[in-house]
Amino acid sequence: MCGIVGYIGSKPAYPILVKGLKRLEYRGYDSAGVALIDDNQQLNVYKTKGKVSELENFVIQKNISGNIGIAHTRWATHGEPCSENAHPHFSSSESLALIHNGIIENYAVLKEKLQAKGYVFKSSTDTEVLVQLIEYIKITNNLDLLTAVQLALQEVIGAYAIAVIEKNHPEQIIAARKSSPLVVGIGDGELFLASDATPIVEYTDKVVYLNDEEIAVLSNGTELKVVNLHNAEITPDVKTVVMNLGQLEKGGYSHFMLKEIFEQPDCIHDCMRGRVNVEGTNVALSAVIDHKEVMLRAKRFIIVACGTSWHAALIGKQLIENFCRIPVEVEYASEFRYRNPVINNEDVVIAISQSGETADTLAAVELAKSKGAFIYGICNAIGSSIPRATNTGSYIHVGPEIGVASTKAFTGQVTVLTMLALTLAKEKGTINQEDFLEVVGELNSIPEKMKEVLLLNDKIAELSKIFTYAHNFIYLGRGYSYPVALEGALKLKEISYIHAEGYPAAEMKHGPIALVDAEMPVVVIATHNALYEKVLSNIQEIKARKGKVIAVVNKGDTIISKIADICIELPSTIECLDPLITTVPLQMLAYHIAVCKGMDVDQPRNLAKSVTVE
Ligand code: F6R
Repeated sequence: MCGIVGYIGSKPAYPILVKGLKRLEYRGYDSAGVALIDDNQQLNVYKTKGKVSELENFVIQKNISGNIGIAHTRWATHGEPCSENAHPHFSSSESLALIHNGIIENYAVLKEKLQAKGYVFKSSTDTEVLVQLIEYIKITNNLDLLTAVQLALQEVIGAYAIAVIEKNHPEQIIAARKSSPLVVGIGDGELFLASDATPIVEYTDKVVYLNDEEIAVLSNGTELKVVNLHNAEITPDVKTVVMNLGQLEKGGYSHFMLKEIFEQPDCIHDCMRGRVNVEGTNVALSAVIDHKEVMLRAKRFIIVACGTSWHAALIGKQLIENFCRIPVEVEYASEFRYRNPVINNEDVVIAISQSGETADTLAAVELAKSKGAFIYGICNAIGSSIPRATNTGSYIHVGPEIGVASTKAFTGQVTVLTMLALTLAKEKGTINQEDFLEVVGELNSIPEKMKEVLLLNDKIAELSKIFTYAHNFIYLGRGYSYPVALEGALKLKEISYIHAEGYPAAEMKHGPIALVDAEMPVVVIATHNALYEKVLSNIQEIKARKGKVIAVVNKGDTIISKIADICIELPSTIECLDPLITTVPLQMLAYHIAVCKGMDVDQPRNLAKSVTVE
């Protein structure tokens, strides 16, 4: 949600800022803006509704000079997307410009207080309240900017990552974070600021992840000082980030989503590297081994997550219960955090998050930690907030996911959950060697099988054309395939805007079957497993109501393939690994239907990649 970029150094700031905004556009894209201080100490702010490309058009013929600047791409929280509400926001005197990601919860009270002092607001944002508050504190107490920011932030309730520059001080950017991510990049005579490392990595691999309530002062492109709200100095912890720039480009694909779907065989390979041995006979997740006492002692696992990561959690529940014989509860992080859950120090809480920044998941982690639970993170973005808040964890190592609809992160999460369940089951002695070897061996062959599935892309693109008429879709699955049905439906609705619901197949007759008619496409995951015959009956019930069945079956299927309208044939694997195979055609189906409908696949309306507000 909202992307922040900042630059101070000897180079022209604007090109670096705009390139950075494009890298962060997945975080929000309803408006964009930039603030620059030129050589004559003019503070120029340009902002406009729409994507970063519209900002580029907007600044043609404008003065975009300056070696210091901040820039923002917005996902609206307070106030509609329009140029007035776009960031940066000026203070009243127009000597300060500020950008913000997060929500100032007490903005209404602060605004009233400022209005009573005569302050006038041009936008309906909480951000403008913050910049006015900083200016008010600065002027009335005759303070420098850093002190004014520190005092203002002490009055603020909510989440923020901010960057602020001052017209008369072109030598510094002040930035701060609380519950919203912010990274400082340290280059050679230049300093960068961004919501994540992606805009920074082409200039430097040295970064500092700010912690909550830390303020960074970036001076002259050379000096980084980090202090807290009470001005105690903090030694910055400089980390090295490794990111391949190619991962941030489309690399010949028409969309990031398609690229990321196709990357999955390599991603799963990378995810297993050093964890599953090359022979495919052993798996060891170091975080489980290193904390085996607490993991073995656990009476219960609770998995907290949102969206696609929550679907992965549902698969994780089945894997862990099956192999480790430990009860597992799966919770929406947003519900868990507010319902006074019963948690204690015999619980292990697993937090799953691609971005590692989801506000609700982070809050669920903090809550569980405060009640004594041991916290295990399964995240993708290295150095993000959730991995830093957990006791231990395993990265999924699938590389940056840029398309807003999650694809490779889901299969990476399921892969890590499989390795976690196997490692723990082996430690507990709840899996016999034969079953263990079978699952590890099959897991090792998943990347090759995924490659086979990807060969179906053209066929799925073709069949997608048939379904652009649909206003509704139903997705059905049972057992391990039920979360896959949920995930298939989520993918379709978020990028094609077709209403889609996933159900456990047997639930159809308890209500949803009333929706089925000749117009209704029903995607059924019907691979050959223990529930095959049951799913067959469910398909017959749908056919009896003239529903259009798109069946996801295994190659060589001779029964369901005869009664379904369309079949997508996949290589077989064992039941518990089926989601790693069956999810892929559903991702492709959603993608191609959205493309046929002319939708903006990588940046669907109203969505943002990293949900840093609750
Ligand atoms: C769907 C999607 C979202 C995310 C959800 C959680 O394609 O991307 O549903 O899965 O917002 O995000 P993370 O995993 O970053 O916590």
